[in-house]
Amino acid sequence: MLKKADNQILTQVGEGTPMGNLLRRFWMPVLLEEEICDPDGPPVRVRILGEDLVAFKNTDGKIGIIDAHCPHRRAGMFFGRNEECGLRCVYHGWKFDVDGNCVDMPSEPEETDFKQKVKIKSYPALEKAGAVWIYMGPPELKPEFPDFEWAHLPKERLIVTKRLTECNWVQALEGGLDSSHISYLHRNLEDLKPQAIKKKDNLSVNYAANDRHPVFFIDETKYGHRISARRNANADDYYWRITQFMVPFHTLIPPQIKTGRDSDKHSYAGHVWLPIDDEKCWTFSFNCNPSRELDEQEQEIYHPRTGMWGPIDENYIPLANKANDYLISREVQKDYNYTGITGIPNQDAAVQESMGIICDRTNERLGTSDKAIIAFRKRLLKMAKELEKGIEPSEASMNDAYNIRSATYLANKEISITDGSEWLTKIK
Ligand code: FES
Ligand SMILES: [Fe+2]
Repeated sequence: MLKKADNQILTQVGEGTPMGNLLRRFWMPVLLEEEICDPDGPPVRVRILGEDLVAFKNTDGKIGIIDAHCPHRRAGMFFGRNEECGLRCVYHGWKFDVDGNCVDMPSEPEETDFKQKVKIKSYPALEKAGAVWIYMGPPELKPEFPDFEWAHLPKERLIVTKRLTECNWVQALEGGLDSSHISYLHRNLEDLKPQAIKKKDNLSVNYAANDRHPVFFIDETKYGHRISARRNANADDYYWRITQFMVPFHTLIPPQIKTGRDSDKHSYAGHVWLPIDDEKCWTFSFNCNPSRELDEQEQEIYHPRTGMWGPIDENYIPLANKANDYLISREVQKDYNYTGITGIPNQDAAVQESMGIICDRTNERLGTSDKAIIAFRKRLLKMAKELEKGIEPSEASMNDAYNIRSATYLANKEISITDGSEWLTKIK
């Protein structure tokens, strides 16, 4: 449960709001690279943290992200001509480069220096890890790009996609921190039968099904929180799933342990919850294996449009969505799975979006399984309030600390998670 004022601080991201100011201290993904791949190609509309912008790739391949409205008489830059290293407004021909400088003003006399006095709002952008990232904070505080392991991988080892989520970013992100819902929301009824559990070759499914009362441990780190869920695996061992939360909106999902290839242990996935405004967000999702190329079967499972984070249409809108009740089937709910909804992200979206566009946290009753969510709120609220007093978030400049993985391990019950044991050091 939160006070109304804190819920507002947590969820509001517009210009000048405490959380909006905080998020603007970090690099944020705004587009997939595929949306803006051609130099001099069509400009793309971008809405982020409640600001309307336009992105374009210039003749040299540099990306510009500028105000959606021309500073002359506010015409839409989306309709602009992307030509010769700049975006030209089609109304009177004013042209802007990627840094927002006005480089041509044909509607004014040649001798005037008015051009030098006009700029369009622009933000630094870069391409990394299959996405275009933006920094919207004070220029003098622009941080290094965080050293995410997955952002350095070649495209053969990484697949990135995104989907529209029709609610405030915080309740969507909290779903990613909430390990305990896996035993219910995403459960296939078949998995509950003991004979089915024994037959599975997926050890993660087995352990999670055998012990549906995980114990959670939250460790504060430089980058955010390490969230460890402990289940009984057998008489000697615990089954651990380590989820990582990285300030302000990144999560890493632990891999599934499957029998078979050893390199499967290195695969993991993650999300970035990017606020479009207070009422919508993009859920960016990736899958990777740092130690080898993704094989044909994995390429299909993680396919950006039809794979496990989809299916989505050409505008990245899920085919199963709020407007069609996520294509729920009561027959499927009766006989096959808990929700009657097919697909993990659709099941997540149904519960997250059903909380209301902005969840009213003054009416919640949190339990022990919500520890990770409580820790997340506390940390973000503290950071946002400190920034209001002029204390900058140290996390924004800790790019090295972001080079970590999630993990799944079996470990002897004697081993404590706090003693630097061998299995824990495997998390980079
Ligand atoms: S409104 Fe853009 S050039 Fe006039
Ligand atoms: Fe989920």
